[in-house]
Amino acid sequence: MAFRDKGSKIIIKTPEQIEGIRKSSVLAGQTLQVVKEYIKPGVTTEFLNKICADFIRDNKAIAATLGYNGYPKETCISVNDVVCHGIPSLYELRESDIVNVDVTTILNGYYGDTSKMFAVGQITEHAQKLIDVTKECLRIGIKQCYSGNRVGNIGYEINKYATSFGYSVVYEFCGHGVGLRFHEEPEICHVDEKNNGPQLAPGMTFTIEPMINAGKARTKIDKKDKWTARTIDGKLSAQFEHTILVTQTIPDVLTDVDGEYPKP
Ligand code: MF3
Ligand code: CO
Ligand code: CO
Repeated sequence: MAFRDKGSKIIIKTPEQIEGIRKSSVLAGQTLQVVKEYIKPGVTTEFLNKICADFIRDNKAIAATLGYNGYPKETCISVNDVVCHGIPSLYELRESDIVNVDVTTILNGYYGDTSKMFAVGQITEHAQKLIDVTKECLRIGIKQCYSGNRVGNIGYEINKYATSFGYSVVYEFCGHGVGLRFHEEPEICHVDEKNNGPQLAPGMTFTIEPMINAGKARTKIDKKDKWTARTIDGKLSAQFEHTILVTQTIPDVLTDVDGEYPKP
């Protein structure tokens, strides 16, 4: 992979901007806590979208995906072999499905972006393992988010871990700077080379959002809707996403409303 030199375009946020991004990130995280209670067999992904859209609006925020490059809904909901950008629809969830809900909020102009996996009823051991490894991939990536480290070490460590289980890491979609806009510099590739890319510095905010496939890494976009990305082999895919703030010490996981990460 070629050496990237986009470091100069990475925005260092001011304390005021950070507080705005933090509030929006918390709201995005809370949206996932709310929708979790509705995930069960027979429920449509459109209904789950409505739950999220209402909660976001009730909290005086805007759903960032609606109208973004023509995207038609307030969330992305990706089931089973859908890697990302699943469009909420009249599909009814079934026992054993695995579902990612991805929420991006704009609150007072600031963006927060997070997603997680949910199980519908009982799922297979194989599906649970994929979810567990993907969640751990995000944790491993976040561990690399200290000042002075290079962006490439995030993807290097994620890819090393995921492939040790025989899984593959999606390289066609990446994490991204976030906060003042939806997608900023830097690009966070989940497959990368050791010590590649720009150095991290306090005040940078970006997402890490590994998509891990049970089979091949390649994806294909739905010909009709132009959004839904599925695995090329029809096997399962999982994803977790957090918005991260680099600090002087440990990373601040801004969308972690479940208290799964220590605070700096
Ligand atoms: N929230 C997604 C991300 O993590 C982006 C969705 S863009 C959309 O970057 F247009 F598909 F909604
Ligand atoms: Co994102
Ligand atoms: Co997202």
